[in-house]
Amino acid sequence: VPANALPPFWSTFRQTYLPKDGTPLSTARCQTCHVNAAGGARNVYGKLIEATLKAEKATVLTAAILKKTESVDSDEDGWTNGAEIAAVMLPGDPNSHPNGEPPATPAAQVSTTPGRSSGSPLLPPHSFHPIIVHFPIALFMFGCILEVLGAWKGRTELCTAGYFNVLIGSLSAPVAATTGFIMVFRRGYPIEGLVLAHLTLALASTAGMLATAYLGRSAARAGRERASRLYWFLLVASAVLVAVAGHLGGMLVYGS
Ligand code: HEC
Repeated sequence: VPANALPPFWSTFRQTYLPKDGTPLSTARCQTCHVNAAGGARNVYGKLIEATLKAEKATVLTAAILKKTESVDSDEDGWTNGAEIAAVMLPGDPNSHPNGEPPATPAAQVSTTPGRSSGSPLLPPHSFHPIIVHFPIALFMFGCILEVLGAWKGRTELCTAGYFNVLIGSLSAPVAATTGFIMVFRRGYPIEGLVLAHLTLALASTAGMLATAYLGRSAARAGRERASRLYWFLLVASAVLVAVAGHLGGMLVYGS
């Protein structure tokens, strides 16, 4: 029923660009803008259309609104939406674009929201966040596993190795969080829903990880046993928090 209520989006798109039958664009139909053929969740191009509709306070898609999104490169494959649609390729799929090198100038405006910062080859819009996050996630969680395993088997060398992973993992967490904030602001993500949950958990786990590392460090300095009750609690809680934060981050990138 909802699908039947909204075919004007595709009709308007088709009437505006008249893609030839059998081309990737005409075959994709609803998936030009949606992740699935039935509609619902929007892909990057669909999100841009939605943001543009909101910005124009419009409920009906028009050719003029579609034209406004042409200079943006929603899927960040180097080709603007306009160039991809003209070549009957999909503006929301980075694997679908014309053959050859994308035109160098004018630089494509890489953004999911109109008017936000564009990327540069040195600092892409993701600001390396998706790469750096794996350091705190992997190191801290692996460190936690080693510490638990070491305590369980009574092997101190495992605990020591675990603690160094915990330490480096914690120190990389603020770096990951900072790139995350830069990415949110550069890409103009609205701080709500999944993004808000991810940010909150990321900050909580960063605080937890740093506290764990600090506790371990100060115990070692004072010549005390590292593994106090509070240390174990912080260690396991932070590992769980960073796992959940990472999972939500993954949902933001790959969809649920
Ligand atoms: C040009 C891009 C575009 C195309 C093509 C398109 N849609 Fe959409 N669709 C959107 C946008 C943008 C929204 C959100 C509209 C809004 O918020 O006002 C939407 C909303 C919907 C919704 C409402 C559900 C929700 O999550 O809000 C359904 C269902 C839907 N589309 C189904 C379809 C189907 C089925 C097709 C193919 C016949 C289709 N759409 C083609 C862009 C498109």
